[in-house]
Amino acid sequence: MSTDTSTPRNKQKQERSAEVHNKVMLTRRQFLLYSGSTAVAASTISISLFPGSAQAADARVVGYPRKLIAKLSELKDNVPVDFNYPDELANSSAMVVKMGGVQAGGGIGPKRDVVAFNYLCSHQGGPLQGSYLADGPHRILGQCPLHLSTYDLRRHGIVVSGQAFESLPQVLLELDGDNIYAVGMLGLIFGRHKNLLES
Ligand code: FES
Repeated sequence: MSTDTSTPRNKQKQERSAEVHNKVMLTRRQFLLYSGSTAVAASTISISLFPGSAQAADARVVGYPRKLIAKLSELKDNVPVDFNYPDELANSSAMVVKMGGVQAGGGIGPKRDVVAFNYLCSHQGGPLQGSYLADGPHRILGQCPLHLSTYDLRRHGIVVSGQAFESLPQVLLELDGDNIYAVGMLGLIFGRHKNLLES
């Protein structure tokens, strides 16, 4: 990792970037607003990850289960906790991690440093379990054992290096008191034609 984030200017840029990316997160209130409280029919909302550019992503929230996956107070810095989402079927393995105070796009918690991602490499489904790396300000998942892709967990799992060209699917989180809930996904899980197989 050669990017120098130690200067005030770079730190400012990094914080600005995380701030912009945080717009992807939904509050509980927004979630209810979009879902009409009880709606279960699948629909989408569009969220611009990079305002001013053509890049946007659909965050599929409505229709997803709201699943309790961890307690904030029980997460240890930089120690991922595994879970499955949005179901217990193939390729649903995922992890949630508190990144030691490093703010992230879509992060929740007082420091916006808690994020969750699917474990399957977006390239050809390589397993990323056990590959979490905290190195200075960097928070990485990878290298993938198959073709060495790595993903930046501070920036919605964008590809840092390797063969992959799509970001790692991010699990959208919601904090309710001490409870962390998974409430949706950003990106398509590898090997699925849609994330919600049973809908
Ligand atoms: S499957 Fe991970 S880089 Fe190819």
